[in-house]
Amino acid sequence: MNILIFGAPGAGKGTQSSLLVEKMGFHHISTGDLFRAAFKNNTELGQKAKSFVDQGQLVPDDITVSMVEEELDRIDGKSFILDGFPRNLAQAEVLKEMLSKKNKNLDKAVFLAVPNTLLKNRLTGRRLCKDCGAVYHVETKPTSKEGICDSCGSNKIYQRTDDKEDVIQARLDTYKENTSPLIEYYKNDDQYVEIDGIGETEEVFERIKIALGS
Ligand code: AP5
Ligand code: MG
Repeated sequence: MNILIFGAPGAGKGTQSSLLVEKMGFHHISTGDLFRAAFKNNTELGQKAKSFVDQGQLVPDDITVSMVEEELDRIDGKSFILDGFPRNLAQAEVLKEMLSKKNKNLDKAVFLAVPNTLLKNRLTGRRLCKDCGAVYHVETKPTSKEGICDSCGSNKIYQRTDDKEDVIQARLDTYKENTSPLIEYYKNDDQYVEIDGIGETEEVFERIKIALGS
């Protein structure tokens, strides 16, 4: 089964994707994570994408699409979860063509619904592990020992540069303008499922599992 998960910044796409990987064996393709890996390794792709990400803008489609296509080819026949792609209507159309060319299906488009009022706190409080990517929150999911990752023991807990208040607002605006039209786009398809993203992480995960028929 191949799925995509979409929703506003901070809706919990990465958090839920990790659980889907851990408990259901999906291969996770997160365009945001791929860009951050490219920044860390200072690749040409990273240099092209950095200023867009830092300003809360979408990275141009040509850069993003070829990165996703490479990733889809790399994972071959494995079930995948797309997190953060597509992010506008043009990308959704390209994805449709790309999958049909590769004889792959998209089984579900999962929209994670979380109201704006909760998003800012989730984003300003988010912390991540630089080494393994584990996601924390200073209030709702702190590390057991301050500054130490529970998953891998690394002491490189950091805050994303785009999780500052002014960039958060830009990301929310970009989402509203470019990404939210995908709700109507996928609603016209029988792959669409809307999940209430409010509540404990495990509760939200149970809702997704049911929607996926597992
Ligand atoms: P990306 O990394 O995808 O960022 P985003 O869409 O803004 O989403 P986030 O990763 O911020 O949120 P999330 O939904 O994953 O939430 P999380 O699970 O971490 O993209 C970054 C940038 O890359 C974009 O701005 C753009 O520039 C570029 N980009 C990416 N894809 C692109 C594309 N296709 N085209 C063009 N450009 C692209 O959770 C957030 C916090 O909430 C965490 O602290 C977590 O612990 C907490 N939390 C999660 N679930 C719950 C819960 N149920 N209750 C309470 N707290 C919770
Ligand atoms: Mg994410």
